[in-house]
Amino acid sequence: MDSAVTAPVGPPSVIDLEKQYLFQNYLRYPLVLARGKGCYVYDTSGKRYLDLIAGIGVNALGHAHPRLMKVIREQAARMIHSSNLYYHEYQGPLAERIAKASGLDRVFFCNSGTEAVEGALKIIRAHGRKISPEKFETVALLDSFHGRTFGALSITGQENYRRDFEPMLPGARFTPRNDLAALEQTVGPNTAGIVLELVQGEGGIHPLDPDYIRKARELADRHNALLVFDETQCGVGRTGTYFSYQMGEPVVMPDVIVAAKPIGCGLPLGFVAATESAAANIAPGMHGTTFGGGPLACRVALEFFDILDTLMPAITQTGSYFRMRLTELARKHSFIKEVRGYGLMIGVELDFSGKQIVLDAMAEGLLINCTHNVVLRALPPYILTEQDVDRSIRVLDKVLKKALPPVAQASGLREG
Ligand SMILES: Cc1ncc(COP(=O)(O)O)c(C=O)c1O
Repeated sequence: MDSAVTAPVGPPSVIDLEKQYLFQNYLRYPLVLARGKGCYVYDTSGKRYLDLIAGIGVNALGHAHPRLMKVIREQAARMIHSSNLYYHEYQGPLAERIAKASGLDRVFFCNSGTEAVEGALKIIRAHGRKISPEKFETVALLDSFHGRTFGALSITGQENYRRDFEPMLPGARFTPRNDLAALEQTVGPNTAGIVLELVQGEGGIHPLDPDYIRKARELADRHNALLVFDETQCGVGRTGTYFSYQMGEPVVMPDVIVAAKPIGCGLPLGFVAATESAAANIAPGMHGTTFGGGPLACRVALEFFDILDTLMPAITQTGSYFRMRLTELARKHSFIKEVRGYGLMIGVELDFSGKQIVLDAMAEGLLINCTHNVVLRALPPYILTEQDVDRSIRVLDKVLKKALPPVAQASGLREG
């Protein structure tokens, strides 16, 4: 028998093809997903996973939701794209829906969170420029994440994302979250905008204090700057209210918000919403997009809003139940430092890297993600049930029992 090593026969796997032909910018998990149903996804071998990350907070109604499937089929047969040269039937009604839900006046549609942030940055710049050529600074937070295009990246307060692309847009100033004195020092007459995630997502599920949000409003008013809330991750139902700024009492109103992720339920859709006066900074011709706000994506978003109205109390309830069960888990596993979040935006901070936990959970049929190295993050579909939470807790308990945090490794101790 010929003992020479022969190349494998048959077609290359999708993983091999990606390795050969794609930019190597993603560090993907070794999992090829084939389909989804509700809160579960299935890989190409048919193995089932409970999906707590939901396309990074996008698949808010889970997978293959029957009402979404119906409107997608219908609308795909009628019209998918029309451009922004013409009116279509769904942008106006969707803008009205968003205006009513947000308390803002006008909406611009785009395709993603980073694009929405770009739109908001253009509003900030145009607002400042009308007042003075020096008024172009944007104040943002350390540990923030606003996207990967140049503008959004310039105000992303994590150096590791920006480092390779310096120099950034001029005028970005960063300040630590929840530090009132630092914010007061950073915002000044040249500030044209303040951009905040009220719950930092990529930064590790860190909420801003109500006092801090109020201070930002006060400083924006004092210095005639626009207050912008980036609701891309924490908005559109995620925290149990339409938008995260509506959780607090009294509500601190922004001048501008940006949102994306769940609104298109997987179809690319984002938006900027603004007060009448902030929106007036953008005159005809100053901004636009070919794809943004197409008929298919807008119709799906309208259907999503109808369904969201019925889900809001469940988001709060299931989220509290999830955090309660995680807090119980934290009592068993002392290397869980904190359980944080609102609604179905949940972070579990460990005192060691969560990367192996993510892989071990995946092997046990649970998809969760790790952000900021040490924070396990869940952004599950809004249709998650308490039974799904119980299943997640069982898997997490099992994989955490196996985990050896560095201190325990050194002393040979095993938690749980
Ligand atoms: C708060 C925030 N802003 C902006 C973005 C960028 O959104 P996208 O990836 O849709 O461009 C993200 C993405 O995670 C985000 O979490």
